[in-house]
Amino acid sequence: MKILVTGGLGFIGSHTVVELQNEGFDVVIIDDLSNSSAEVLEGITAITNKKPLFKKLDLKVKSEVQDFFNHHNDIAGVIHFAASKAVGESVNEPLMYYENNINTLVYVLQELTKLNKKNFIFSSSCTVYGQADELPITENAPVKPAESPYGNTKQIGEEIIRDTCKVNGDFNAIALRYFNPIGAHPSAEIGELPIGVPQNLVPFITQTGLGMRDQLSVFGGDYPTPDGTCIRDYIHVVDLAKAHVVALQRLLTGKNDSNFEFFNLGTGVGSSVLEAIHAFERVSNKSLKYEIVDRREGDIISAYAETSKANNILGWKTQLTLDDAMASAWKWEQKIRNK
Ligand code: WQD
Repeated sequence: MKILVTGGLGFIGSHTVVELQNEGFDVVIIDDLSNSSAEVLEGITAITNKKPLFKKLDLKVKSEVQDFFNHHNDIAGVIHFAASKAVGESVNEPLMYYENNINTLVYVLQELTKLNKKNFIFSSSCTVYGQADELPITENAPVKPAESPYGNTKQIGEEIIRDTCKVNGDFNAIALRYFNPIGAHPSAEIGELPIGVPQNLVPFITQTGLGMRDQLSVFGGDYPTPDGTCIRDYIHVVDLAKAHVVALQRLLTGKNDSNFEFFNLGTGVGSSVLEAIHAFERVSNKSLKYEIVDRREGDIISAYAETSKANNILGWKTQLTLDDAMASAWKWEQKIRNK
């Protein structure tokens, strides 16, 4: 079966392509390479001994999307990662985010609704919950006004899909709301390619561990948490990738209970920034230089998933730990810097 993965050369997309190919799917990737490189294709091939079809294409150009689907009308499902995802950048460049994250989604959905098989997996985010009132966070938690244009594009994206499913009874979609994806494939053939100064915690930790950064700034040590630092649910990217295959198979085998479902994807365990630092120190046997500084604007205090819906309905559960993820991130960082 042919599966389209948009943004398939990105961090989560590439790991999902590996798991799809491991399950015997034929994958075609669309990526505009704005936040990735064609080298990732070699990494995927090295792991699975199968080179996915890759089309460099700008999904913002409607005619290119139409042309692609005209040549690939045998697609059985789409996993849609293609989007910009830097929260801070989205605050400064809202229109770039609305164009790149919303227009592209509409064009892909317009073409997919014309095919025989209409199965769609959407890359969403726990960002839709903002600072949830209750922890752990279930799928019943209210979607709150987004804290950033990036988060808003995820909320709007889910609404666009929901409305599409309402008028297309044979259109089946699942939105996957990720908590904090970290780590890399254990082979160190693919991983997170942070371009420039990393915004996210784990690549900043591993670059500090390698001496590329003088020290890690811990954004806030006076939060109402056990050690004063923010809490997140750090999920290994390989566990996350496997969830996409399970969700796709749910739709392909018609096991979905309705034609629009959504699931939180996390470990169910909250870890603080200091706990993440200690995990790095354990797996690398190095001490990490860090300094507690002021809070970062827009950060929520604590977020971790209530995982029973994904575990019991979707039939997926994380297998890997924070230490597994940190060890894989460290191995990847050393590999790419020693090239
Ligand atoms: C985690 C914690 C920081 C960097 C964002 C998006 C989310 C998803 C993941 C796309 C926070 C602290 C960080 C640093 C630090 N992105 N931190 N020093 O903000 O939870 O989530 O990225 O889908 O949608 O919202 O992730 O890794 O930036 O921060 O102390 O140098 O680490 O304050 O508490 P975040 P993060």
